[in-house]
Amino acid sequence: MCGIVGYVGKKDVLPVLLGGLGKLEYRGYDSAGVAFVKDGQMKVIKAKGRLSNLREKLGDVVAEDTIGIGHTRWATHGEPSDINAHPHTNTAGDIAVVHNGIIENFSKLKNWLISKGIHFVSETDTEVVAHLVNYMYEGDLKSAVMKTIKMLEGSYALGVITLKEPDRIVAARKDSPLVIGIGKDENLIASDFPAILEYTKDVYLLDDGEVAEITADNIEIYDVLGNRVHKEPFTIDWDVSQAEKGGWEHFMIKEIHEQPVAMHDTLMARMRDGKIDLSEINVTEEYINDIEGIHIVACGSAYHAGILGKYVIENIARIPVSVDVASEFRYRMPSPLLSKKDLFIVISQSGETADTIAALREAQSKGAKVIAITNVKGSTISREADFTMHTQAGLEIAVATSKGYTTQCLCLYMIGAEIARMRGEMSQEEYDRFVKDLQKIPDLMKMVLDKKEEIQHLASMRFGDVNEFFIGRGIDYALMMEGSLKLKELSYIHSETYAAGELKHGPIALIEDNTLVMALATQKPLIEKVISNIKEVKARGAYVVAMTQDRYREQFEKDSDLVLTVPDIDDLFAPLLAVLPYQLYGYYTAVFKGCDVDKPRNLAKSVTVE
Ligand code: G6P
Repeated sequence: MCGIVGYVGKKDVLPVLLGGLGKLEYRGYDSAGVAFVKDGQMKVIKAKGRLSNLREKLGDVVAEDTIGIGHTRWATHGEPSDINAHPHTNTAGDIAVVHNGIIENFSKLKNWLISKGIHFVSETDTEVVAHLVNYMYEGDLKSAVMKTIKMLEGSYALGVITLKEPDRIVAARKDSPLVIGIGKDENLIASDFPAILEYTKDVYLLDDGEVAEITADNIEIYDVLGNRVHKEPFTIDWDVSQAEKGGWEHFMIKEIHEQPVAMHDTLMARMRDGKIDLSEINVTEEYINDIEGIHIVACGSAYHAGILGKYVIENIARIPVSVDVASEFRYRMPSPLLSKKDLFIVISQSGETADTIAALREAQSKGAKVIAITNVKGSTISREADFTMHTQAGLEIAVATSKGYTTQCLCLYMIGAEIARMRGEMSQEEYDRFVKDLQKIPDLMKMVLDKKEEIQHLASMRFGDVNEFFIGRGIDYALMMEGSLKLKELSYIHSETYAAGELKHGPIALIEDNTLVMALATQKPLIEKVISNIKEVKARGAYVVAMTQDRYREQFEKDSDLVLTVPDIDDLFAPLLAVLPYQLYGYYTAVFKGCDVDKPRNLAKSVTVE
């Protein structure tokens, strides 16, 4: 989904750009490039592959000048290559552009520019922007960018510099994130906070359609009509240390271990006098009593959190919950069905996922009030939702989420309990017990993490697998979707989640001698059923790793090859503990296979294109 960074100030620009790109590599990492001014010329250096390739290519080049832009790419138009990497320039090479997003009408614009005699060198949509800015340029870069974006359809965060005005960056945004870091005698632009945290925590959050003109000592922001916009700075509440590995080998394992704290912080931010206080989402008892259903919409792991939330909310609040993948929801034909009596929830760790933003807007356009669960304050979703519940997971850097997911689940438990309480589906005693159990989770998570060697050992035996199955029933099935995804995205092993009872309707044909089947069964009423499913796959040669709670262990010993357990807790909360061994399993399997754990191939953390 690409990361962009730009700097204007007094520092040597290359270390700033390369440092910033390093922090944004989670957004894309198939090529990278920088543009800067040196000896009165625009230098553009780009390299296919990881940022280290660009560093190598740059060698000991010193920019000398103090303005530049950089980009790390996740290819959309054109294969990853030196030529397709950003920045892109006009033919004279005196205007350079970095872009995150997709210019949907680029073919039309390209043909038009070609008809004017302009020669293109790359296959990207972005190159049209560089040529258009040049075409529109009449001595003022800001005006040229403003005229250019009027012609663009699609999404963009842009950073543009020109040799003709070498003291300024012009930035623009529509449907792709962009922040402006406010420094002292220096200013920055970036796709996301980590890239600028080292320099400043104060930012302006650009809104759609806005354009900013940034010099070392001034930032001017304009709306779509060219009027000056006054903005209040926003202060980032993350620390630069959160963007460092701090002694861990990977961000992934660091973040897995941060879950007890993240869960504690997310919970304690809402606990008042032994009760969950959700005043931040500001829904009245009257409104909750009136709703007839809940819609949850999200992507990836956030979607999995939504499915888990469905089981929790339906269980305790006795209200139907439907969960949709955002890219499906938004294109439901002829349009998504939404009732005014439904509560609409979107979930997104980054708060910038394009499909989830579109679903949110679709729901609002139909008159729904949207509650967002997101980890990033100041993100688009956080700003556009009617009410926002911020998870307190802290900065998450590894592309595959861990603490982002568990804190999203926790928020759904809290929402479920509040709805149940308001609708009279939970007695005071049940509510108090529920809250007490939630408070136990962080410490119990630590106990699960203390047994990580057991998982590491399992991974050391199975990392050669090509195919694995994750099965469960009910809420355990929901959890296994995430467990299986972790293995798939981290280690590239094909893994399938199946509702345990559904396995015999097809996928059981794939079970061969020694096929690994992970079976999760933490819910007492479903244990016997899952054991029957374990027997079915065992009879076909599967190697079964069962996971349950300590108190149910014995029941699995006869039929499973290995039994793993999590500490005892009320059944409803057990999946929150059970997810950790699966995260660890995905992690260690990937490490044994030598995969790039923090940046799995083809994936990006923040998916800002649809
Ligand atoms: C990408 C990430 C996933 C994430 C999903 C949704 O696919 O790799 O880890 O779950 O996007 O992201 P969001 O920021 O909306 O939760």
